[in-house]
Amino acid sequence: PQPRHIALMPGDGIGAEVVAAAEQVLTQLRDHHHVDISWDTLEWPSTAWHQEHGRMMPEDAMHRVKGYDALLLGALGDPGPTSDPQRYRLPDGISLAPLLAFRKELDLWACERPARLLPGAPQFLADPRAADIDMLVIRENSEGEYVNQGGRMHRGTPNEVATQLEVFTRRATERLIRHAFLRARRRLVLRGETKQFYCAEKGQAFAQLCLVTKRNAQPAWGELYSEVFDEIAREFPEIGTRHELVDAACMKFVQCPWEFDVVVASNLHGDILTDLAAVLSGGLGLAPSCNINPDSRAMPALFEPTHGSAPDIAGQGLANPSAMLLTTAMMLEWLGFTAAGEQLRAAVAADLVSNGHRNRNCQEITQGIIAAL
Ligand code: NAD
Ligand code: IPM
Ligand code: MN
Repeated sequence: PQPRHIALMPGDGIGAEVVAAAEQVLTQLRDHHHVDISWDTLEWPSTAWHQEHGRMMPEDAMHRVKGYDALLLGALGDPGPTSDPQRYRLPDGISLAPLLAFRKELDLWACERPARLLPGAPQFLADPRAADIDMLVIRENSEGEYVNQGGRMHRGTPNEVATQLEVFTRRATERLIRHAFLRARRRLVLRGETKQFYCAEKGQAFAQLCLVTKRNAQPAWGELYSEVFDEIAREFPEIGTRHELVDAACMKFVQCPWEFDVVVASNLHGDILTDLAAVLSGGLGLAPSCNINPDSRAMPALFEPTHGSAPDIAGQGLANPSAMLLTTAMMLEWLGFTAAGEQLRAAVAADLVSNGHRNRNCQEITQGIIAAL
């Protein structure tokens, strides 16, 4: 693999703590495992930078980040305790804007969030079949409920009306759904025939893709998604398909999560489903995520765990860095350091098996993973 240069962006709250863990691991990989990677640490975007400069990041930030091969972000958001009026606090609308701007400006239209219950991880579902949870939620990352257009009329009056536009284009829907089928196919090839799903139309199938919508209440985009899904499904006869309405999908994620493989959903539904999938597979402390453009490497991809800045535990060393380190493994693979990515994922898994049930702080978990490496 060629040398790679990335940006570490600590961000807010536990973001800085888990990025520090990632830096320790990257240092280890660079110094002892021949991974030719270098990095800059950018103090922006973050609330601290805003406090000093009156904005979340420099004016030329977007131009500058485009020069990196990948971005590794901790988390953004520092709403602060309402009990302390002196404390510098930003509304989420300001502090999170850079994250949404990166996804859009860098054209990172797919968000992939694997949820696999690793041995040793906290298992919140009592059913022993929950040990088989192994799904990949693919979230639309460029439009839908996140276009952020709308407004408030008659603000503060009894007649106030808030509108929030949602936009779903065929172009974005087709590329998303085709990508989801390709991922399902790849999982089928990698997994072999060890896990079987039943598909009513196609008989027994060995990989399965579930489309989630709310087409009963939101038919305009729900039907667009369903039509595109059915069209593209014809190109993938070996993939079993199903559809779930998002409310029922939430219920089934808890009732029988082992019956899901790849799940494809809109921006907002994908956001909600992936916090749920995270807790089914050990919690937010173990849930990795990436924002990618599967068709193009022209822009840097953005890697950040599913979790946020966790103000309730920030500054106490209590954050679990495993989500960030599994995210780092995804980044290494994306950058072509396939073996190092696999090793890091195996190290997180090995650490869980030997230490998973012990109460450990961020530094102890990081040391355990480095020892396993
Ligand atoms: P959160 O994900 O930060 O935390 C939810 C719960 O999970 C908290 O109890 C937290 O302590 C726990 N948790 C999260 N990550 C953990 C980890 N690595 N180890 C152990 N426990 C962990 O969600 P929230 O509290 O709703 O949001 C806090 C702030 O983060 C808000 O400003 C929100 O907008 C922002 N946020 C940012 C991102 C991001 O930058 N990608 C994602 C989600 C939320
Ligand atoms: C996530 C986060 C973001 C999202 C927020 C912070 C805007 O929850 O990455 O899951 O909703 O996409
Ligand atoms: Mn989220």
